[in-house]
Amino acid sequence: MRYKTRTYFIAERIALIQRSKIRELFERASKMENVISLGIGEPDFDTPQNIKEAAKKALDEGWTHYTPNAGILELRQAIKEYYKDFYGIDISESNIIVTAGAYEATYLAFESLLEKGDEVIIPDPAFVCYVEDAKVAEATPIRLALKEENNFQPDPDELLELITKRTRMIVVNYPNNPTGATIDEKIVKAIADIAQDYNIYILSDEPYEHFLYDGAKHYPMLKYAPEHTILANSFSKTFAMTGWRLGFAVAPEEIIKGMIKLHAYVIGNVASFIQVAGVTALRDPKSWEAVEKMRKEYEERREIVLNYLKEMPYIKTFEPKGAFYIFANIKETGMKSEQFSEWLLEKAKVVVVPGTAFGKQGEGYVRISYATKKEKLIEAMERMKKALEELK
Ligand SMILES: Cc1ncc(COP(=O)(O)O)c(C=O)c1O
Repeated sequence: MRYKTRTYFIAERIALIQRSKIRELFERASKMENVISLGIGEPDFDTPQNIKEAAKKALDEGWTHYTPNAGILELRQAIKEYYKDFYGIDISESNIIVTAGAYEATYLAFESLLEKGDEVIIPDPAFVCYVEDAKVAEATPIRLALKEENNFQPDPDELLELITKRTRMIVVNYPNNPTGATIDEKIVKAIADIAQDYNIYILSDEPYEHFLYDGAKHYPMLKYAPEHTILANSFSKTFAMTGWRLGFAVAPEEIIKGMIKLHAYVIGNVASFIQVAGVTALRDPKSWEAVEKMRKEYEERREIVLNYLKEMPYIKTFEPKGAFYIFANIKETGMKSEQFSEWLLEKAKVVVVPGTAFGKQGEGYVRISYATKKEKLIEAMERMKKALEELK
């Protein structure tokens, strides 16, 4: 049923989309002074200068027109080379669509592959967009619990138990938002085998693949189940380019063709000069030097936060090896996640995201982002420690 705002009728599918539950918390925080937000889900770094220069140059050279819907050939070639160089994976330009970030890649995958009544297995906790994408595609989300004792990786036996005749897709996201977890190769292989045995698609969302610590490695799903994987990836986190809206999907050619049909009438193409800058991002060694610098900085911050959390009463921490998040266990405080976030905001003026924003299994956890300058991070940790000590 359409729903009515004060004046207008809006389609039901829009009513189904749930806006982020943490908006209220952020709104309250924005009205307070001297608040430090560790709720941020994007790099605090600026885009590397060489990439910015490439965009400016492209504009001056006249890259101001439409491009092919799938994206310019040179960018798709650069993406192809990237998978060969980093992971030894062979793909062709026709396996790639350039999208407005991983958000669009994910949306296109859901819309192109799922129909009413199809089931899609989505981890819990998980990044917020998958469940909403499923609802818009009229598919049924089935949640797969990720447990701290399994390092927030799926248990393949539990995955198998959730599979029915209607299961069409499973979502995987490593390094993970919100837990910071990485995935072991044996679990990647197990998921790939299940997908092949039951003929299920895997949507693998991998925008944090370059933010790995403590010697952790990334195992791209594409390598293990190339015929079943739709890979969503992005320049947003890797090159600190969230505002540019540049990402891509890699999938079997027939799937990409379907995705292009929808993309052609929604986005048309990603801004042409931004695609040209994307080529520089991937091919210029200067960009990769900048990525490594950012990774090192995240690594130091991660160490700082983990050390502080270890000293705090009532807090237990799983030590994540990826992304820029820590999913801290707050169960011993006796507070629920939302209550804890509100308490911390009032008491210490620090924003952390309640784990329940990412699903029911997030109860008892809060997500701490360390995509914040070191001094602020230290100040926030001091405040949090003091507040918790006063709880004793
Ligand atoms: C796991 C995950 N997927 C996708 C996105 C969306 O990224 P993009 O900016 O590429 O659309 C985000 C952003 O926070 C994310 O954390």
